[in-house]
Amino acid sequence: MKHDPSKGIRYLIYVKTLTLLSVMIFIIAAAASAFRTDDMPVEPIKLGFAAKDSIASVKAFETVYKTLMSPRCMNCHPAGDVPLQGDDSHLHAMAPKRGVDGKGVYAMKCSNCHQDTNTPGIHTPPGNPEWHLPPAAMRMVFQGKSAHELARQLVDKKQNGNKDFKKLIEHADDGLVLAGWNPGEGRTLPPVSHAEFKRAWLTWIENGAYAPKK
Ligand code: HEC
Ligand code: HEC
Repeated sequence: MKHDPSKGIRYLIYVKTLTLLSVMIFIIAAAASAFRTDDMPVEPIKLGFAAKDSIASVKAFETVYKTLMSPRCMNCHPAGDVPLQGDDSHLHAMAPKRGVDGKGVYAMKCSNCHQDTNTPGIHTPPGNPEWHLPPAAMRMVFQGKSAHELARQLVDKKQNGNKDFKKLIEHADDGLVLAGWNPGEGRTLPPVSHAEFKRAWLTWIENGAYAPKK
């Protein structure tokens, strides 16, 4: 048989091309499996939110914090066991006490004076069918808390009445929260609208409920 050198070279090129191809296929397959999302570790987020963004979260909490610390909210979230009154958040006249359920004690039940709706006039009791302080077992203090401390307290199930993110989100439309925007005559409104507060509250939580540094 006559030796044909070009045949040998063609064969060599053929083999090399095959090797190169299989290496490429291997790389593509390996890369594809590395990017398969269902193999990715799932972070232990309570609601499985897709996006977590600590910067957006902390930024939104600025709006949440200034609302919570405004008198319309803080007056029912005092450091002690007596509610606060007025835009200067002074101790409630006649010092009604929290009691175990937050609804007052003995003859000083909140609902004795606070009716289902606001009483007309100045310096009269604001009203709501549920008007009361957080219960003794879950005092949910806002007064005197830094933004860092308050953020941590809000998501701590031991301090928030065992609420997960979903329940906390729902709280944005709670009757007593809404009451802050219908405070009765002569009282200032919270610093932002309810819609703005709710947007910030959701943004804070959905991005991971991060606490500011301070
Ligand atoms: C009449 C009193 C009262 C007022 C006014 C009030 N709160 Fe509360 N707040 C409560 C009570 C009671 C609880 C505890 C709720 C519970 O038992 O789950 C609470 C709990 C909370 C919590 C903790 C989360 C939770 O689900 O318990 C947040 C946040 C909150 N209030 C926000 C606000 C905001 C914002 C305002 C003002 C716009 C406000 N509150 C005004 C009584 C009040
Ligand atoms: C003896 C009647 C009386 C009792 C009992 C009473 N309150 Fe009041 N409360 C009032 C009056 C009157 C005002 C309005 C005071 C003012 O505006 O100067 C008021 C105002 C408040 C405010 C201020 C609201 C705001 O937005 O600034 C809060 C908070 C409050 N009461 C919570 C309570 C809680 C909680 C209880 C039960 C633990 C309670 N009160 C029991 C009469 C009462």
